[in-house]
Amino acid sequence: MAPFLFLHLLTLVALVSARSLIVHDSRPDAPEGYVHHGAAPEDQQLTLRFALAGKNTSGLHDTLKAISTPGSASFRRWLSADEVKSFVEPSSATLAAFHSFASANGISASSASPHGDWVSITVPVSKANALFQAQYQTYSHPSLAKPVTRTLSISLPVELAGHVDAIFPSTSFSNPRTPHAAPSELGTKGKPSFTSCDSSDPHGVMTPNCLQALYGIPLTPASRQDNRILVTGYGARSPSRESLAEFLTEYRPDISNKTGFNLIRLGNGTFTSTGLFDITTFETDIDIQHTVGIATGVPVEFLSVGKDNADAFLDTITFVEGLQDPPSVMTSSYGFDESSLGATIATKMCNGYAGLAARGITVLFSSGDGGVRGTHDSGTRCTSNVFVPAFPSSCPWVTTVGGTLGIRPEKAMNLTSGGFSNIFPRPAYQDTAVESFLATVPNAFPAVFNKTGRGYPDVALQANKLAQFSQGSHGTAYGTSLSTPIFASMIALINDRLLAAGEQRLGFLNPWIYQHADAFTDITAGTNPGFVCPASSLAFEARAGWDPLTGVGSPVFSKLLNAAFARY
Ligand SMILES: *[C@@H]1O[C@H](CO)[C@@H](O)[C@H](O)[C@H]1NC(C)=O
Ligand SMILES: *[C@@H]1O[C@H](CO)[C@@H](O)[C@H](O)[C@H]1NC(C)=O
Ligand SMILES: *[C@@H]1O[C@H](CO)[C@@H](O)[C@H](O)[C@H]1NC(C)=O
Ligand SMILES: *[C@@H]1O[C@H](CO)[C@@H](O)[C@H](O)[C@H]1NC(C)=O
Ligand SMILES: *[C@@H]1O[C@H](CO)[C@@H](O)[C@H](O)[C@H]1NC(C)=O
Repeated sequence: MAPFLFLHLLTLVALVSARSLIVHDSRPDAPEGYVHHGAAPEDQQLTLRFALAGKNTSGLHDTLKAISTPGSASFRRWLSADEVKSFVEPSSATLAAFHSFASANGISASSASPHGDWVSITVPVSKANALFQAQYQTYSHPSLAKPVTRTLSISLPVELAGHVDAIFPSTSFSNPRTPHAAPSELGTKGKPSFTSCDSSDPHGVMTPNCLQALYGIPLTPASRQDNRILVTGYGARSPSRESLAEFLTEYRPDISNKTGFNLIRLGNGTFTSTGLFDITTFETDIDIQHTVGIATGVPVEFLSVGKDNADAFLDTITFVEGLQDPPSVMTSSYGFDESSLGATIATKMCNGYAGLAARGITVLFSSGDGGVRGTHDSGTRCTSNVFVPAFPSSCPWVTTVGGTLGIRPEKAMNLTSGGFSNIFPRPAYQDTAVESFLATVPNAFPAVFNKTGRGYPDVALQANKLAQFSQGSHGTAYGTSLSTPIFASMIALINDRLLAAGEQRLGFLNPWIYQHADAFTDITAGTNPGFVCPASSLAFEARAGWDPLTGVGSPVFSKLLNAAFARY
């Protein structure tokens, strides 16, 4: 930090006491990779969103535990939008506090979410700096289309303390655009030649037929229209219908290659192709191919969100919570490092996922591709002695999907992100499983992870050498971006059968998963140093029972289906 800034902070401390402000959030510096360009222009208009404290967040958590725990009297009695709202909406005291603060400062505040838990104001940077003792700065990042405006510290006037949970944008640096997938082979116009389904073999390719055989996924079409999968994408990217048709022609000749998806656009973002291979478009192609191509007959929607930062995730949550008839499964192959996102916004988002889970939506996130080193590992992280948890993987109210490779036996893939949250404590549903794992960690293992945190992932599936077609060529792809839509497809196919039998959909899975770990194949080999970090780098090891690489293991469709119909 430049010395002048240090002096400036001393002045702020004095002002804080004079005006009764309380520091709400701060961080020492921008995360690795961000370039600082100085103070944001004073007259730049800034739209700030405030997450207002919900009336009864603990009530939402307790209710969700009850309705998702097998054996409970209210098992799978999913809530309506209004029932969720009754927990999540701010109290009248909180609303009054915010509106009196806004009017006293000549600002108009507008509601920014269906549950009323977000409000937004638009003010010039100079006013935001003065009102919240902030120093908004301009930063860029090589993977972001546009610079972002962030501050390293933000305070709240005392009269708002306890009424505001999070402020965006403020100290959260986050970029979900780096997807959790990459091509392992590209440029072949024809179908990749392969001789086996073994994704650990140089001549193996994991096609839809291989996945169906490996996990017992049925080919018979689903019958219900009231059971949809929602696939999310960011930065205004959307999948190519032509690429999907090529994929289906090649790998699902038994279904029409016109089988499509419903595209929903959110926000004003536009994406202009550069004509070069685009990794973010690739991500959307593989995500749609591994839902439409696996969840035979299940209606699939693709939500293309214009924004490409943490606000894109907030927009996704508020969009879905506003739906009276929501999808039954939602799958996302994007995420952040917990530390770059920050605890206040991560906690607010995680509560948002709890609200969706309570509606009976299975919310799935890919665990990330950096092994113990976050969403993506890098050369500089390989020697680090601190493991990097990823988010939303670490949120206890989502189901997190890791990655495996090989078939005899299936092993943890080196990139499968897994570990323990520094923000969210371990939820009760995984106590036994995680404690058994922790008991196997040698005493000599360095203290590089947080033993009290939520352990992830929950499950794992194939994440290497999956067949795909994107941007004019056939090839294969790797990453936990692949395993997640495949699991989403399996859950949707089970929902189809549940609904056809007059039962409720699966909804929030985790307590059920940990009670039915025997419906999964335990993965007991492999380590997760990351994709680029050498195998010798410190990492976890897969072993019997739950582990922070593959969770309880890879799903067996027939066993999951039986467990879905069991009432315990
Ligand atoms: C919060 O919700 C729980 C669960 O529904 C309920 O028992 C409790 O009374 C609620 N608390 C308040 C303050 O509304
Ligand atoms: C789709 O299938 C039809 C035959 O049913 C075929 O003529 C067409 O080329 C296929 N489309 C693609 C993109 O492969
Ligand atoms: C889209 O852009 C128009 C014109 O710039 C603006 O008025 C509108 O508010 C934007 N909508 C959203 C959802 O951002
Ligand atoms: C460890 O995780 C807990 C939540 O379980 C959190 O409160 C604590 O701050 C974390 N410790 C560190 C060093 O991050
Ligand atoms: C991680 O595994 C993949 C798939 O087997 C392999 O291609 C890659 O080289 C491995 N990374 C390292 C650093 O060994």
